Amino acid sequence: MTILQLINERVQAALSAAGAPDAPAVIQPASKPEFGDYQANGVMGAAKALKTNPRELAQKVVAALDLQGIADKVEIAGPGFINIHLAPEYLARRSETALKDARLGITPVAPQRVMVEYSSPNLAKEMHVGHLRSSIIGDALARVMEFLGHDVVRANHVGDWGTQFGMLTAYLVEIRQAGDNALELSDLETFYRNAKVRFDESEEFADRARDYVVRLQGGDAEVLKLWEQFVDISLKHCEAVYQKLNVGLKREHVRGESAYNDDLPVIVEELRAAGLLSESDGAEVVFLEEFRTQDDEPMGVIIRKKDGGFLYTTTDLGAVRYRHKVLNLDRVIYVVDARQSQHFAQMFSICRKAGFAPESMKLEHIGFGVMMGDDGKPFKTRSGGTVKLIELLDEAEERAYALVSEKNPELSDAEKREIAAAVGIGAVKYADLSKNRMSDYIFNWDTMLAFEGNTAPYLQYAYTRVQSVFRKAENVDANAPIVITEPAEKHLAAALAQFEDTLLSVAEGCYPHYLSNYLYQIATLFSRFYEACPILKSEGEVRASRLQLAALTGKTLKTGLDLLGIKVLETM
Ligand code: ARG
Repeated sequence: MTILQLINERVQAALSAAGAPDAPAVIQPASKPEFGDYQANGVMGAAKALKTNPRELAQKVVAALDLQGIADKVEIAGPGFINIHLAPEYLARRSETALKDARLGITPVAPQRVMVEYSSPNLAKEMHVGHLRSSIIGDALARVMEFLGHDVVRANHVGDWGTQFGMLTAYLVEIRQAGDNALELSDLETFYRNAKVRFDESEEFADRARDYVVRLQGGDAEVLKLWEQFVDISLKHCEAVYQKLNVGLKREHVRGESAYNDDLPVIVEELRAAGLLSESDGAEVVFLEEFRTQDDEPMGVIIRKKDGGFLYTTTDLGAVRYRHKVLNLDRVIYVVDARQSQHFAQMFSICRKAGFAPESMKLEHIGFGVMMGDDGKPFKTRSGGTVKLIELLDEAEERAYALVSEKNPELSDAEKREIAAAVGIGAVKYADLSKNRMSDYIFNWDTMLAFEGNTAPYLQYAYTRVQSVFRKAENVDANAPIVITEPAEKHLAAALAQFEDTLLSVAEGCYPHYLSNYLYQIATLFSRFYEACPILKSEGEVRASRLQLAALTGKTLKTGLDLLGIKVLETM
């Protein structure tokens, strides 16, 4: 049981004993050391419901509260708050257990089959900064859920189908006919732009492009072959980005929009059979009562256009249906820009009504805000273009390289490169993962690369500091008992004991910043402990115990950063 679950259970029992069995225990880590380690603040609500005096009820709860061996002080603060101070011996035993366990004492959860769908770029263009957030937030969530023991299925729902492929194919055929045999796709961006120019300038070219779309959808072997080349080259670009980003998406996780092509007519028939389909201006539409237009009419979601073409939503319906029927998932998490929230809400609603997903399969749109430039506008190049993601990551490494070279000129170039990669990429990822995903944030190189504050370099540095203690320490007893006497030791141990609860809350609400903030707290408390409690200069049991706390700190930081997809270094 996690520490929060344990305290919760005991407070719940005490509430029952005090005559308030229906009141939920509300327990939180205390916000200030003077409030102890945990605070129970459900007593107020319970007293209100029972129409009794909160202080009296709190007294009864405290009298009934059995935290023997767990807390050494329980006190009433304010009218209905109960402050719980954990016993140092309890924290010491818990830390020892965590240290001996490869999972740091974290019990595997009852596993669910969870799909994390993330990154999902539209192919035939290179990934740009707009793809960063989904890729790294999704990856962190997949890692955390996997670590907790869930059966995680990663999915990259790439946009590999649709009219732009007709345009690209038409252009490819055209330049080849003009004698240009080089498949000038090394620069996808330019290729795409040139094709678009042709599409816009020539009606005749546009017609050919549309014809290719029809042939592609009809399964024409020649056109399919060209399409496959585009997809393959685009995915190679994506894979280079994932590799650099340390994002665990591979070819096997790709199941793009094209995979559902054959299901789309079936979707239409099933929607019709369910009585959900109406005709409107020649298109087939599902009207949703719970979504209203500006004129307060039910909103229509187009499933099939007048010309027979299907839409983004139709494909998504096909994907949900597949995820239920074939993959039998318990939970599907879509890590996609918050601006698509209406699309997901409507799509989920249609799925429920049509029976594509039973209520037992949870569907969640995990949205996120926009990454802004220093000017407070969406991040762009100086000339206003979109920034290629690979170039942004290269720049991160270059900037980190310059910093490392300045700090540690004595290192070899290979060492500097290795540190620069971990620090540069780590900084970009952490700057994002440390913010509430729902808010927009300003991308700023100097802040994210700073060695102080809530940044990746600060946490990576904290980890190397722990490691350097162990490089200097001789005869470390990995089984030494932990003895907690100093406040700095206790605060550190109490925070270390919250790792499991933190991960559970990350997985529940899909908020990676809970983990980032937690790790920052650990690094800060370690730093205070390091200053207040000499490790190597102390002796005997005290030294051995402090080394143990340092060891657990190091393991927690490393595991936690790894779950965010951020690398640590032994020295930097
Ligand atoms: N390819 C889409 C885009 O770039 C994102 C896909 C999100 N996933 C989904 N199942 N709709 O906007």
